[in-house]
Amino acid sequence: LLMLTGCVATGALPADPEQEGLDERIVIRFSHVVAEHTPKGQAARRFAELVHRYTGGRVEVRVFPNAQLYSDDDEMEAVRRGDVELIAPATAKIVHEFPEWQVFDLPYAFPNEEAVARAMDGPIGQRLLAGLTRDNLVGLAIWDNGFKQMTSSVRPLRRPEDFRGLVFRTMGSPVLDEQFRLLGAHPVHVPFDRLYAALERGAVDGQENTLSNIYTRRLYEVQRYLTISNHGYLGYVVIANRDFWESLPPDIRRQVQRALDETTAWIRQYARAANVEALELLKRTGRMEIHVQTPEERQAWRAAFGDLDKWMEQQIGSDLMRELRALTA
Ligand code: LMR
Repeated sequence: LLMLTGCVATGALPADPEQEGLDERIVIRFSHVVAEHTPKGQAARRFAELVHRYTGGRVEVRVFPNAQLYSDDDEMEAVRRGDVELIAPATAKIVHEFPEWQVFDLPYAFPNEEAVARAMDGPIGQRLLAGLTRDNLVGLAIWDNGFKQMTSSVRPLRRPEDFRGLVFRTMGSPVLDEQFRLLGAHPVHVPFDRLYAALERGAVDGQENTLSNIYTRRLYEVQRYLTISNHGYLGYVVIANRDFWESLPPDIRRQVQRALDETTAWIRQYARAANVEALELLKRTGRMEIHVQTPEERQAWRAAFGDLDKWMEQQIGSDLMRELRALTA
């Protein structure tokens, strides 16, 4: 039971008394916007434990969840300035500066989790991460959450027509705005920490998210209808302040990278299980009408997205689109 208890083995790593008082202790401040009992929240904690273990306590990761320090709109600048050392925004949130990252937002680009994994672990992921290394940033890893589902407070979302005239919150990526426009809806960008309030006051009618975010952010209190559509993917990019990263002694940097790589493998499994569990927990609340998209409905949504691929190609270039298509070929 991942989200009922939020359990990840913690406390197994008591501070090493020999390390106390070490004056060269290095602190990594890690800021993110979601709850602790989410895939990203748990991955951040696990990363902190592994870093402690592998560096013998020399490096301490301090995690700040729930947009306590920075909201979506200002965490990039914060890490660039060095006000925090590490962030892990949804890929959709960095695309104004790095448009290529929109590949993960393109609806129905990935038929299953394996195709997503091939994109993250293969040439697409490598290219995207390499492109991030500029302006005092360095891209270190890509983390999973899972497929996004659609919710609304107004009516069930089955056919494309059901979206017409509704206001949908997006994470701010142009391709997501375009996705909702093609469905006849009005997209608006709202940071995650203001999403619940926007839905509650009815400023926004619907949104798309993973089941674990819908459950942990209690969106079922303000959204009546859920369609399991798996139409898009929510992943994260782990970004560090480059001056800081390069200032780490090489042996320390290797150990931090090792902790990160292990966390990357771990969150993939954890996120899958967490999203499965979140569906059960959402059912148990009895607050949502849950509809599983039929193949015919999926076909109709895809038809509505029509030329989005062409639009996307202009945004991210034909090389990357070719790589993306090769994943499903
Ligand atoms: C959202 O804004 O809905 C998500 O990106 C939040 C997150 O970081 O999972």
